[in-house]
Amino acid sequence: MTTVLDVQRFKDEGRRFAMLTAYDYLSAQVLDEAGIPILLVGDSLGMVVLGYPTTLPVTLDDMIHHAKAVARGSRQALLVGDMPFMSYHASVEQAITSAGRFLQEGGMHAVKLEGGGHVVDITRRLTELGIPVMGHLGLTPQFVHQMGGFKVQGKTEAQAARILADATDLEQAGAFSIVLEGVPNAVATRVTQALRIPTIGIGAGPGTDGQVLVLHDMLGLTTGKAPKFVKRYANLAEEIGKAAQQYAKEVGEGSFPGPEHSYSANGVAPGSKDAKEEVKYGAG
Ligand code: KIV
Repeated sequence: MTTVLDVQRFKDEGRRFAMLTAYDYLSAQVLDEAGIPILLVGDSLGMVVLGYPTTLPVTLDDMIHHAKAVARGSRQALLVGDMPFMSYHASVEQAITSAGRFLQEGGMHAVKLEGGGHVVDITRRLTELGIPVMGHLGLTPQFVHQMGGFKVQGKTEAQAARILADATDLEQAGAFSIVLEGVPNAVATRVTQALRIPTIGIGAGPGTDGQVLVLHDMLGLTTGKAPKFVKRYANLAEEIGKAAQQYAKEVGEGSFPGPEHSYSANGVAPGSKDAKEEVKYGAG
């Protein structure tokens, strides 16, 4: 199983690595079997699964529900639970309780928190308690209203210096890695070179140690114009639409179900294939 020590080793050995988001049993199973070393149960689930305009409405209970499903589907990957808005903002105690739920109930191995400042203290405390922390700096979606939208951060020297200072503080507080989102390539490269721990970029260029994408974006399950940093490795929305239309057509014309998808009525010999077959959902 991938551990936080392996993630550090990736950086020490100069091995670039991939992280993807996962929100359910099936996608976790597929990604785990594909050898993706880190799966993030991201609060992006609010936008790509639950249909909210931002990540802010996502609750800790929503996250735990999805974390449990991902944990059931995964065997090898390091599982990181994203602490949702207002699950760690009130106090260090609240952060400990929320992070503890991710590990105890959700089956996660680590948590991710957005921001610097007071998050540095939380990171120190969680790490002391044996809860590994992934930081998240730059474009932090939980700050969408503060940032005036989902905008690239770190464009001025002062902002870039702030990101570097926060990253250094998080590393010193014990974070095992840091996501850098929506920052210029030069800023991400500078932070990556300054840190001992690995950085994981999204919309941060090629200079980070690892990369992360939102699963639904990279599979082309989300439609419309994708942000510049997204590469669509498949076009599943189109495939699903085509499959659904073909199915509806075959149902309409009566060609589905055919004999190969139907059970015989009487006279099935005990021990025959039909007699043994289970009637349940999902592939066994
Ligand atoms: O919620 C999420 O999926 C994230 C990643 C994009 C880093 O935070």
